[in-house]
Amino acid sequence: MTVLRYCLFLFMFFPLCVVPAFGSGSCILCHEAINRPSMKELHAEWNDSIHSRMGVTCENCHGGDPEKESKDAAHRGVYDSMDPKSTVYYTNIPRLCGRCHKHEFLEFKTSAHYETLMTKGVGPNCVTCHDAMSTKTLRPEQLELFCGMCHNARMSSFPDIVSQAREILLKMEGTSRKVARTEASLQSAREKGRTVRKAEGFLKLAKHELFACRQDWHAFKLGRIKKRLDGVDTLILDGLESLRAAEEEAK
Ligand code: HEC
Ligand code: HEC
Ligand code: HEC
Ligand code: HEC
Ligand code: HEC
Repeated sequence: MTVLRYCLFLFMFFPLCVVPAFGSGSCILCHEAINRPSMKELHAEWNDSIHSRMGVTCENCHGGDPEKESKDAAHRGVYDSMDPKSTVYYTNIPRLCGRCHKHEFLEFKTSAHYETLMTKGVGPNCVTCHDAMSTKTLRPEQLELFCGMCHNARMSSFPDIVSQAREILLKMEGTSRKVARTEASLQSAREKGRTVRKAEGFLKLAKHELFACRQDWHAFKLGRIKKRLDGVDTLILDGLESLRAAEEEAK
């Protein structure tokens, strides 16, 4: 509404003002109408992604100018992914995603994966695990497939990495559930008028640490993630303990 009113205002006073017909979305408008099956599929993947819901659009990753209507003008700066100039060329991908996912990128840069990707071209990059346009996170039962394509008895120096990683990802899910349950207990204690300040402190710290564990994945130091998760579990126990103490006190 406000945009419309603003444009009407401009039209009244500056008759030459042109409302851009495509706003900021020529990429989407044109691409969603392309009928080739492979292109349709890619578009649907993006459309269903968290990026699409959060307003991360084509030009954020591919460059180009979404205000231009014609393909050639819009495509200026857009290159095929096989072209080293492309923002989505395989060795440029970590830096591209890292523009918004800074912490993950910084951790990733310390990993053997990044090292082999950049020097030998064989390590995984962000889209090996998260996909390019659909943007998924990995579930424990998928690691066999995803990590196993390189870490298996035939090809890798560390075939047992997959089972270790699965165990830790499962643990991380378990810890997330514990955090959620503790949050619910905290809420009901709060409603009963208990003193929950201390428990709140523990839970806040636990959530912060859990978030850091997710980002920490990207250094692929599995032992370090496990230790940190143990720390989160301890914080949750401390939080529950202090809720119990507050309950005792109220009796
Ligand atoms: C007027 C239509 C049109 C617009 C606007 C448009 N594209 Fe495209 N785009 C196409 C077509 C058609 C293809 C298929 C490849 C071909 O045949 O050149 C394509 C291909 C692509 C590819 C594959 C790589 C390549 O260069 O072939 C990417 C990436 C891409 N477009 C991104 C974008 C982005 C980002 C924008 C907006 C800044 C955009 N497109 C705007 C029509 C368009
Ligand atoms: C979060 C980043 C991101 C967003 C947003 C995104 N893409 Fe992509 N897209 C990629 C990556 C990365 C690849 C290359 C994957 C690979 O190496 O296989 C890719 C591949 C493609 C391809 C295949 C052709 C090629 O060059 O490999 C097309 C076409 C394409 N994207 C178009 C689009 C369009 C159109 C939009 C918006 C509707 C869009 N993308 C949004 C990251 C993104
Ligand atoms: C322009 C900013 C931007 C770029 C570039 C970008 N992302 Fe994102 N990404 C976001 C936002 C915003 C979210 C949603 C909020 C959040 O979870 O951080 C998100 C969420 C995610 C998630 C979390 C999904 C979930 O379910 O929790 C993953 C994984 C992800 N992005 C991977 C990537 C990858 C891989 C690339 C590069 C191909 C990329 N992103 C490029 C902004 C970006
Ligand atoms: C070898 C596999 C792998 C690679 C490569 C990888 N990730 Fe991840 N990523 C994971 C795993 C495993 C998780 C944890 C899954 C979960 O949160 O359940 C994760 C989680 C994430 C999340 C969600 C974090 C959150 O706060 O919920 C984002 C965002 C993300 N990765 C971005 C990236 C980016 C950016 C890159 C490249 C610089 C990258 N990933 C490379 C495996 C990978
Ligand atoms: C595209 C291939 C590829 C994929 C996919 C892959 N890795 Fe790796 N990984 C490597 C390479 C290459 C190395 C370097 C060491 C080596 O030579 O084996 C490595 C090393 C590692 C290391 C040792 C890190 C260190 O610093 O010592 C861990 C841990 C690891 N990967 C975990 C994983 C996990 C977990 C996944 C799945 C989420 C995964 N990898 C997926 C190729 C891959």
